[in-house]
Amino acid sequence: MGGQAGVPAMIDAQAARRGVFHIGGPHTSYLFRVSRYGHLEHVYWGPSVATSDADALAVKPPTDGYQVAYADDDATYSLDVLPQEWSGLGKGDYRMPAAELKMPDGSFTTDFRYVDYEVTDGVAPCQDGLPSAHESKHPATTLRIGLADGDVALDLYYTVFACCDVVVRRAVLRNGSGEPVVIRRLMSQLVDLPNRAYDLVTFDGTWAAEAHRHVRPLAPGTYVNESLTGFSSNRHNPAVILATRGASEDHGECFAFNLVYSGNHHTAVELSRRNFVRVVSGINPVGFEWTLAPGEQFETPEAVLAYSRDGFDGLSGVLHAFTRDHILPQDWAEADRPVVVNTWESAMFDVNERTVLAQARAGKRVGAELVVLDDGWFTGRQSDHAGLGDYGVDAKKFPHGLGWLGQRVREQGMRFGIWVEPEMVNPDSALYREHPDWAITAPGRQPSLHRHQLVLDVSREDVRDYLVEKVSAVIDESGAEYVKWDCNRNLTDVPAGDLPHRYILGLYDVLRRIFGPRPHVLLESCASGGNRFDLGMLCFSPQIWASDCTDPVERLAIQDGLSHCYPPSTMGAHVTASPSQQTLRATPLSTRFNVAAFGVLGYEFDLATLSFAGRRDVAAQIAFYKAHRHTLQHGRFRRVPATSPDHVVWTAAGALETVVGHYQTRTRASQPPGVLAIPVLEPTRRYRVTSRPQTIGLDELGHLLAFVLPRWLNPEGVLVRTASRFYRLPDAAETYEATGVALATLAPLPQFEGTADRAHTRLWGDHGSTLYVVEPAS
Ligand code: DGJ
Repeated sequence: MGGQAGVPAMIDAQAARRGVFHIGGPHTSYLFRVSRYGHLEHVYWGPSVATSDADALAVKPPTDGYQVAYADDDATYSLDVLPQEWSGLGKGDYRMPAAELKMPDGSFTTDFRYVDYEVTDGVAPCQDGLPSAHESKHPATTLRIGLADGDVALDLYYTVFACCDVVVRRAVLRNGSGEPVVIRRLMSQLVDLPNRAYDLVTFDGTWAAEAHRHVRPLAPGTYVNESLTGFSSNRHNPAVILATRGASEDHGECFAFNLVYSGNHHTAVELSRRNFVRVVSGINPVGFEWTLAPGEQFETPEAVLAYSRDGFDGLSGVLHAFTRDHILPQDWAEADRPVVVNTWESAMFDVNERTVLAQARAGKRVGAELVVLDDGWFTGRQSDHAGLGDYGVDAKKFPHGLGWLGQRVREQGMRFGIWVEPEMVNPDSALYREHPDWAITAPGRQPSLHRHQLVLDVSREDVRDYLVEKVSAVIDESGAEYVKWDCNRNLTDVPAGDLPHRYILGLYDVLRRIFGPRPHVLLESCASGGNRFDLGMLCFSPQIWASDCTDPVERLAIQDGLSHCYPPSTMGAHVTASPSQQTLRATPLSTRFNVAAFGVLGYEFDLATLSFAGRRDVAAQIAFYKAHRHTLQHGRFRRVPATSPDHVVWTAAGALETVVGHYQTRTRASQPPGVLAIPVLEPTRRYRVTSRPQTIGLDELGHLLAFVLPRWLNPEGVLVRTASRFYRLPDAAETYEATGVALATLAPLPQFEGTADRAHTRLWGDHGSTLYVVEPAS
């Protein structure tokens, strides 16, 4: 079974009857079996094999006198060296447990053993409100394994998809006893792998510097990638990769672990004695406690396990396809997203009818499609000190109301979008004055404020009802077709161990109730940028504002990091003013666009101030983006290994074309001739490569104008200043025609180094970049 692309995902039914479970993806096998004492023994995860290979593949556990024997009369069987699919506490396995449960007898010892199995077509979605991977045109199959320890039952679910080498796992615990069970830890998955000298790759950062890739060799001990902020966090994205040492974009085995969850997460990788690697992932057990009353069940979020033998790029291909086909809301998965103009970086809180309509008008002139009224529109919202929680529009700023505004925007040929931050409340708000008890606080403690706000307890039904009613009314009244859902602080003062998880369940309920009946509304999730960039939010929100940092040089690292596990269609990316609001770095308009183009494009500076020449450039950028946006948003994205640490190369391949982005983060004098590798084209086919026409402002060149103009002009003079409003200097145009194999080592034009040959010199400085379109030559 399995083994060939296009073979439907399946579970070997015959073997399952013998207690051997072989789950096949298009190119992979995941194998485990019931051990002689009823535990689930992990056998194999990797390229497709035959079920009958299980005996050859299974690790032959060592037996030493040191380890605890599970049964007195069988020294050869110890849970401490058995590769497993699940493990508890107290039976001789001293590695990280998947569960820490106070059982009905009051002890923490658990020993879940096999009872039965069931195979069903399709997915087995979570029942209690957690989002789940869904089926699409690509079918899925689900295996349920029933385990039990006395009256406490544990079901492990494995769903496999026909389109991609992903196994989705989760656990459901049911208390069939007459006493409560206290859950301190219940992971979504546990897997034991033999050590192949792995590197551990994580995506870490902070505000405005999210998802930077970090690699370290896996060493003895336990490495934990987690969040305790209440959200998936900008500190450590929940996605983790184990890669064989030396893996590159194209080579090496990669195993990815992620969670369909937006709250406190935990993925721990333990390299234990005897060289076993155990990976567990699930809800963070720190501060977590959940009491399961008799008859109740608890479901974990889904864990996503992906595999590729073709390096990081192969893994990204698997995860991008999985996210598109099985996570994103289906109406939006492959839909082209609009080019937006957002008011935040240009107007901040100082928004009003005039500013919104001016941006709509200016946006329309350059080809943008939707104007977003960001923060600052409701009563009392002059700054971040007040107003969150109230949904009345500020009558001074918007005397005609949101319905009128949305209508005027539409009359200008633009669509309307609006910002909200529903989970939060300022103490200085009517809502807080009326319902102070709706904010999360710990009894007897003064709650900590952040950005002058508190968090509403969305685990409460009355709070959820309020939010659903208010946000729905804002959308319906304004006719908004896009909502930016912000969340600008983390949880503190949590009163109980079950609150953070109940909060996330409450959030999903609110999102489902607001956006379920309004599938035409495009939701862009945001949390001070990428503080909640995860597969849970992506089940509701097909795109996420990747970072509050819009400096393109910083964005190269952020989008590059995110791209390992999430496709470009999920990353909101805007062109903003230069110098950057976040770094004071000045960058060319071309590079700001060339980076944002590999995401969902928007503009976030005052388009009404554009000069004639600037407007022409932005209009050309948007026209280019629209012509290639399906490729840029939904094409096969690749990070191409660059030839120097100062360069980044990205490509996006569609059915008929490939768009290439070539970026320089820092220039150096007397550079060696450059090489631009355009990969994965048909070797013998001929292609045409054309650079996107781009320009540089006369004012950006200063005294260097002397090199590029036929005669000297005073760069500070009126003539140059006036001319720069109407004219920008074209960068060198590049066109090549060559075979695919030749384009794997294309030699682009040299860069500016005091030379004046404009036709053959790329006007690249520190942050230069060029986009190219590659099409078959006819
Ligand atoms: C944080 C977001 O990331 C920004 O884009 C903006 O919406 C502000 N909040 C508004 O307060």
